[in-house]
Amino acid sequence: MSKFYLTTPLYYVNASPHIGHAYTNIAADTLARFKRLKKDEVFFLTGTDEHGEKVREAAQAKGKSPKEFADEVVANFQKLWKMLDISYDFFIRTTDELHKKVVKKVIEILWDKGDIYKSTYKGFYCIPCESFFSETQVKETEGRCPECKRPLEEIKEDNYFFKLSKYQEWLKSYLKDNPGAVKPSIRYNEVVGFLEANSLNDLCISRPKHRVSWGIEFPGDSNYVVYVWFDALLNYISGVGFYYQEENFRKWWPADCHFIGKDILRQHAIFWPIILHALDLSPPNTVFAHGWWLVEQEKMSKSKGNIVNPFDCIEEFGSDALRYFLLREIPFGLDGNFSREKFIKRINSDLANDLGNLVFRVLNMSEKYFGGKVSSLKREPPLEFKPLLDDLSKSYVPFMDSLEFSSALERVWSFINLMNKFIEDKKPWIMWRERRIEELKYFLFSLLEGIRIVTVYVSPFLPKAGADILSQLGQSSLKENLTLDEVCWKTEGFITQKGSPLFPRIDESIL
Ligand code: ME8
Ligand code: MG
Repeated sequence: MSKFYLTTPLYYVNASPHIGHAYTNIAADTLARFKRLKKDEVFFLTGTDEHGEKVREAAQAKGKSPKEFADEVVANFQKLWKMLDISYDFFIRTTDELHKKVVKKVIEILWDKGDIYKSTYKGFYCIPCESFFSETQVKETEGRCPECKRPLEEIKEDNYFFKLSKYQEWLKSYLKDNPGAVKPSIRYNEVVGFLEANSLNDLCISRPKHRVSWGIEFPGDSNYVVYVWFDALLNYISGVGFYYQEENFRKWWPADCHFIGKDILRQHAIFWPIILHALDLSPPNTVFAHGWWLVEQEKMSKSKGNIVNPFDCIEEFGSDALRYFLLREIPFGLDGNFSREKFIKRINSDLANDLGNLVFRVLNMSEKYFGGKVSSLKREPPLEFKPLLDDLSKSYVPFMDSLEFSSALERVWSFINLMNKFIEDKKPWIMWRERRIEELKYFLFSLLEGIRIVTVYVSPFLPKAGADILSQLGQSSLKENLTLDEVCWKTEGFITQKGSPLFPRIDESIL
């Protein structure tokens, strides 16, 4: 049995979750469920990033303390993860006591090693991004933040720095030897290109308390708090017990996959492996930076008022439909445009017409012709099924392992559509009329078995529908510990129990 440790970013708690946050967690959950199907031992970590000025300001605007405010937003995130069936193993908050202890310990270790020093910083600071920029960086943007384009504040102050620059050459050669360390390859090239073209500055890892009061106190100097990014990245090791639960930590580290959006690539592909290396720890096996969901080609933002609210989507269309749409519509890694029209079309074509209708028709026939009891003397797959079934058993696992979710789904849907066509071609109503009962039994048995196999393949994407179909097939016992051992022809007979349609068609006139 192999282990698989995967993580999501820790989301800021200055606002409620939106569709972008849902996307990363849905993708990570789908991978976690797939790895469990493969019988890997999985640890899936998600959580929230709670320190920094942005959170303090958002709390103040509501007349709350930062912690009170964070507790409320965290409850919202957890509610969303429950509605979306996100099967995480641990929810970490950067305000957790153990996490704070780890952050302090790490700073002590790096200080003792000589990798942290105090120095005067002169430059420009962006409050919303909580980042420093040098004079040259700011020249290009005429005194505005290179990231968010807002005006910058000029500052001169003493701070603590981590020696990032010392490790630049190490990182370059590490990435050269490990082309899978950052994915997809476009992001790998971006990082390697950046390291070739620029000299890294040391990382300022403290903030004076008079400017940033909500944070982990800097060990050894109570005038400072720890920079939020330095604090937040460490969750990936504190979440599995670095330093304080050695055995657990050794079991899970290094992480197999950090899922992130491309907006936070630099922190994960440059700062993070260097911090780990300085701690004598291995870098994560893979950092996967997915693309961006846009609305009419524009970034979602509060000021534009174009944020897609995942709670509304779930209420209107259901959680499985949202999970399916986000992973099917665009190849994982690329940007995509969220549109209500495309969402509804996908639900109607793939979920209502193809999958939902297949299950409904087959279960209907099973009850109508045989009172729900279907077994067959002949028990190998029909010749018509063979090529696509074989293709699926060869292609599904590699596609999923390489995070090509949309390709995996496309293959599964080819088989679903083949079964729909099989019904049209074989005309079961004529078999019934002509009393070709054994043939009809074999026909229905094959479809039920085909649906059962499809259910295993779609279960990482559609956890609710997957469980529902298994119940309808009288295979509820498979729900616990479902594995890929189930994707072969093996059932002896079915006792079906038709349910309500899985994905009701949506009236397209509401578009
Ligand atoms: O950056 N499309 O938190 P954050 C796709 N706290 N994904 C999106 C998205 C969009 N439009 N918008 C957000 C932070 N995301 C830090 C992370 S990690 C140690 C600290 C997703 O709340 C995507 O995963 O701004 C992105 O990287 C993340 O949310 C940023 O969340
Ligand atoms: Mg952000």
